[in-house]
Amino acid sequence: MPFTATVGDREVPCGDDQPLLDAFLRAGVWLPNSCNQGTCGTCKLRVVSGAVDHRDSPADTLTAEERTAGLALACQARLRSDVVVEGTGGVAGRATHPLRDLVATVRELEDIARDTRRLRLGLPEPLAFHAGQYVELTVPGTTVRRQYSLVNTAEEDKVLELHVRLVPGGAATERWIFDGLAIGDRVEVTGPLGDFVLPPADEDDGGPMVLIGGGTGLAPLIGLARTALGRDPDRRVLLYHGVRGAADLYDLDLMAELAEEYAGFSFVPVLSHEPESSHRSGFPTDVFVEDVASARGWSGWLCGPPPMVEAGVKAFKRRRMAPRMIHRENFTPADA
Ligand code: FES
Repeated sequence: MPFTATVGDREVPCGDDQPLLDAFLRAGVWLPNSCNQGTCGTCKLRVVSGAVDHRDSPADTLTAEERTAGLALACQARLRSDVVVEGTGGVAGRATHPLRDLVATVRELEDIARDTRRLRLGLPEPLAFHAGQYVELTVPGTTVRRQYSLVNTAEEDKVLELHVRLVPGGAATERWIFDGLAIGDRVEVTGPLGDFVLPPADEDDGGPMVLIGGGTGLAPLIGLARTALGRDPDRRVLLYHGVRGAADLYDLDLMAELAEEYAGFSFVPVLSHEPESSHRSGFPTDVFVEDVASARGWSGWLCGPPPMVEAGVKAFKRRRMAPRMIHRENFTPADA
């Protein structure tokens, strides 16, 4: 029997086995969310009335004390009665692009760097999303889903571009996308998800931005940077790409084109394991600290492995960036 979940003045139906977050997002009602796996805590909300089953909520993301205090992870909780919830940040409930399931067709598969593939998926109809969000792909014949950030800007809504890094033994990568997936194949896509997005245009202060991506963490930063530059072609946008070696770099032509077109855009590749290269060496978060004396008034965008993201937060704070201006997207292995 479906129950009803209410946030603010919005009521949505929620199936027995449907995660609360899924129900809200499919109805176009926004709740904060990021990993959709129970690991980040972004979707934590307060159950004001009614009962939920916390299902697989990890104890280190939702503690016993928090459960007793009426908190829940929206991406894990299932309803056991009608509920009223409120966001812990107080901003849940606004309209958002609805979460949808679509069957896409593989248009392009290209090896663009070491162990890295570009995947372009044609959609049967446009999908509304914000630059920086991600989609989930379902591995055929399984219930396994894997998350990939969208490279696109919101206007590029008919062919989705994803950058996929090979994970040794990975169900989605080594055993599917890098082995057997072909042009013309059909792929189940669910999205959009995540809130690694720019503020709405009328709330965007237009201040300088620094974006740091590790490996394929570059993907959403491309859409964010192009969207920001589309809003203000003179904006200062500094994009760092951290990789192990030159063989891991990709889309250098695109970066050169953006630098040519927008005077305020800079792209800095940083190699951690090739000190003799002509590129900057070390970690991109350290190179940012060398390059920028003060980031007061800037916004910062971090996407990549958690240690890089944590180092980035420290680097931004060291350069006086306000914590509320720091945005992060952790890439964690799905099996972790
Ligand atoms: S814990 Fe629910 S979105 Fe991350």
